[in-house]
Amino acid sequence: MLETISFVEENHLLGPSYGLLRLKLDQSLYCLPGQFVMVRPQKAIEPLLRRAMAVYRLERREEGASIELLYQILGRGTEQLALLRPGDGVHLLGPLGNGFLPETWPVTDQRAILVAGGIGSAGLLLLAERFAERSIETILFFGARTAKDLVGLEDFQRLRVEIIRATDDGSSGARAFVTGPLESYLAQDGERARIYACGPEPMMKRVAEIARRYCKPCYVSLEARMACGFGVCIGCVAKISCDAEPGYSYKRVCVEGPVFAAEEVIWENV
Ligand SMILES: Cc1cc2nc3c(=O)[nH]c(=O)nc-3n(C[C@H](O)[C@H](O)[C@H](O)COP(=O)(O)OP(=O)(O)OC[C@H]3O[C@@H](n4cnc5c(N)ncnc54)[C@H](O)[C@@H]3O)c2cc1C
Ligand code: FES
Repeated sequence: MLETISFVEENHLLGPSYGLLRLKLDQSLYCLPGQFVMVRPQKAIEPLLRRAMAVYRLERREEGASIELLYQILGRGTEQLALLRPGDGVHLLGPLGNGFLPETWPVTDQRAILVAGGIGSAGLLLLAERFAERSIETILFFGARTAKDLVGLEDFQRLRVEIIRATDDGSSGARAFVTGPLESYLAQDGERARIYACGPEPMMKRVAEIARRYCKPCYVSLEARMACGFGVCIGCVAKISCDAEPGYSYKRVCVEGPVFAAEEVIWENV
């Protein structure tokens, strides 16, 4: 794990609500798809706590590395990210969490179904890259409020991933929740599919139900409010089923997660 000051190379605002930040690191970094970093602008006084961001892209360089973070501007932390300019310093801790482990990836005769809800696409691009390198057939079911919220769509298109879109207002793809087209697809042609999802909890709960119904292995990347990001504050726990009494235990999303087998997650607050 690396704790360092990284430097902004580029920070592109993608409309009023999203941004793509590229950071330069002077040390090399290896990370699995679905792992994340905790970041905070060096100059920001507020907020005090770092924010968790999925590693969207990673490039190893002769000296060090660069990583890209795709963010949605929601509140104080991400407003500060949007203000960053080239050359600014950013505290960075990572990579953190378990990520989508290679033993869960499809083998050659299987296909990958990615399900992204809104900014959840940020947690899935690296996985799509690994699958493209291995010539694994990949379909992305991408849902968002409007066409403008389908952020990162072109990056998946560049990997030649087949994309099925759904938006709440019908401005791109079906006017539906993304779980509608997903279920129709699995009902007709879901053989040999393995599912990987990242997005809002209600979406992932529904994806988990659909995966169970069609007997498909499914892995979900949970989002939790995080303070430390490395297992100390116990502020990010999720209820996960287990064999021992009382049938569940609390796991830290930042260490034992964020990726869990969907069948193990007890969806309490949704
Ligand atoms: C493992 C992990 C990976 C993540 N990866 C990314 C990523 O790649 N890109 C990204 O943009 N974000 C990501 N997040 C979420 C991110 O860490 C922040 O929680 C989020 O950006 C809000 O931070 P903020 O400081 O801007 O908002 P805050 O000031 O903390 O909150 C502002 C308002 O937004 C609400 N809010 C906070 N978080 C969310 C949320 N997740 N969904 C809906 N409403 C929310 C709050 O309740 C509040 O009303 C990730 C979170 C986790 C745990
Ligand atoms: S964020 Fe502190 S234990 Fe997970």
